[in-house]
Amino acid sequence: MSQSYQLINFETGDDGIAVVTINRPNKLNALKDDLLNELADIFKEIQVDEDIKAVIITGAGDKAFVAGADISELRELDDRSGRMTSQKGQQIFQLIEDTRKPVIAAVNGYALGGGAELAMACHLRIASQNAVFGLPEVGLGIIPGYGGTQRLSQLIGRARALEMILTGKQVKAEEAKQMGLVNDVADDAEDAARALIGNILQNGPIAVRSAIKAVYHSDTRSGYQVEADLFGQLCETEDFMEGTSAFLDKRKPEFKGK
Ligand code: COA
Repeated sequence: MSQSYQLINFETGDDGIAVVTINRPNKLNALKDDLLNELADIFKEIQVDEDIKAVIITGAGDKAFVAGADISELRELDDRSGRMTSQKGQQIFQLIEDTRKPVIAAVNGYALGGGAELAMACHLRIASQNAVFGLPEVGLGIIPGYGGTQRLSQLIGRARALEMILTGKQVKAEEAKQMGLVNDVADDAEDAARALIGNILQNGPIAVRSAIKAVYHSDTRSGYQVEADLFGQLCETEDFMEGTSAFLDKRKPEFKGK
């Protein structure tokens, strides 16, 4: 079954595997606001559709999974709208994480910024050989705002997470696997994700649901609030204007610390 969305392809096969393909290949699948709305609608549907047993998220084209939030949209943000944008992204990615069916990212190229954050909100991650992960936000004068400051530390530990976030360093598939950022690297990430799902779905469905719930059980989510507050504040800095202008003008930024 296939359903029509403008910026995302959403298809479910007879095997009960839904494939969610972020579909803006000419902008490397960057997450604009309309696209995030579609993603939220799709995951609300996935949560209630009993025919869907597991989900794969991937990106259209052969270059990118998702190259981040859409930088041209980010530029319009101020403190208040920046905080709301961060909270909105956090909530949608939380919806993905809260799905009690296995959600696997098939990372087929660049997974930067919001793209890395989207992959980290999935329960498991398979990378193709050309996958590249990074949180380059500080180079734009902001910080990761869709849960990245929290989830990266949870996945690879605080020291390595801080190094990636503070330097904006990008890591390729094999290094990401060594760090524990991805579960595996494969020639075809989607095929490998399907094989992994096949193994999972042989097990008791209630046990699988409960295991996901237990693993994610956590008492505190206050780190997400701090992330959204700081994201909003940074949206009003001159450095943020300079960082995003530099990307769009295809030049190096000159930050002033203001
Ligand atoms: N937001 C908006 N547009 C983006 C984008 C983003 N995050 N990432 C890529 N694009 C657009 C580019 O502006 C370009 O559009 P154009 O053809 O209209 O000029 C198109 O996608 C192709 O990207 P381009 O930069 O030409 O490809 P590349 O192969 O030279 O570089 C990347 C690929 C991923 C290294 C580079 O696109 C990049 O650094 N993107 C931004 C990553 C980022 O900072 N993400 C975090 C955002 S918070």
